[in-house]
Amino acid sequence: MSNNAQKRIQEDKGKFIAFEGIDGSGKSTQIQLLTEKLKKEGICFYTTMEPTDSPIGSLIHQILTGRMKTDNKVIAALFVADRLDHLLNDVNGIWAKILEGTTVITDRYYFSSYAYHSVDMPMDWVIQANEQSKNILQPTITVFIDVNPDTAIERIARNRFHQELFEKKSRLVKVREKYFQAFEKLGDTENVVIIDGNRPPEVIAEDIWKEISSLFVRL
Ligand code: ADP
Ligand code: TYD
Repeated sequence: MSNNAQKRIQEDKGKFIAFEGIDGSGKSTQIQLLTEKLKKEGICFYTTMEPTDSPIGSLIHQILTGRMKTDNKVIAALFVADRLDHLLNDVNGIWAKILEGTTVITDRYYFSSYAYHSVDMPMDWVIQANEQSKNILQPTITVFIDVNPDTAIERIARNRFHQELFEKKSRLVKVREKYFQAFEKLGDTENVVIIDGNRPPEVIAEDIWKEISSLFVRL
């Protein structure tokens, strides 16, 4: 295949935008603002999240809310399975959407696993366990919204009745550190942008748009 033909296939595929950050960092808020922008620009998109609402995702939600207990290794493995199903399932798998040219925006992808699960187990194990997802679909861009864990906890406490397993402050501090370790480790194989999330939502959204808008410029 000629270089030009290869380039055309790349350009025809949808973009895959992954939002990352600790709990309460403002991912959902920014995804909402981004979708408003994409609508105005007439760009065809699909938004989704992990954990998903599949049966595997439901099991994960039960664990996160304390209704079911299991070992941390099992939780990490369930996220691996949920992610593969997210990519490949017949009904709304995101890999098929990307191939048909739809831009997909996900609230969390494999960097969440690298960060959250490497608090309790070696990061290399987590990276290896997620290798198949990475081989199938790497984000065109990963947008990491960086917030101070104190701010994140205040936001969560203001808005939620229960605190999920991972939302305790000391854990969020560690998870944030793990995100940075993962970016350091994989920086040359991934396209990651770090956005200061300790500012008003509209200011953050402008910065994100500056990073993302160029993805949609056709050569
Ligand atoms: P996440 O999806 O990362 O958990 P959310 O977007 O749900 O985060 O934000 C958590 C809470 O913080 C929400 O109540 C939201 O309205 C609020 N919030 C989000 N972004 C900001 C911001 N930049 N400044 C102040 N509050 C924010
Ligand atoms: P959720 O309520 O969806 O949180 P948020 O709105 O902040 O994304 O819960 C998802 C939780 O699952 C969050 O604490 C991060 C955690 N998580 C993992 O531990 N591993 C993963 O691979 C993913 C995708 C999420």
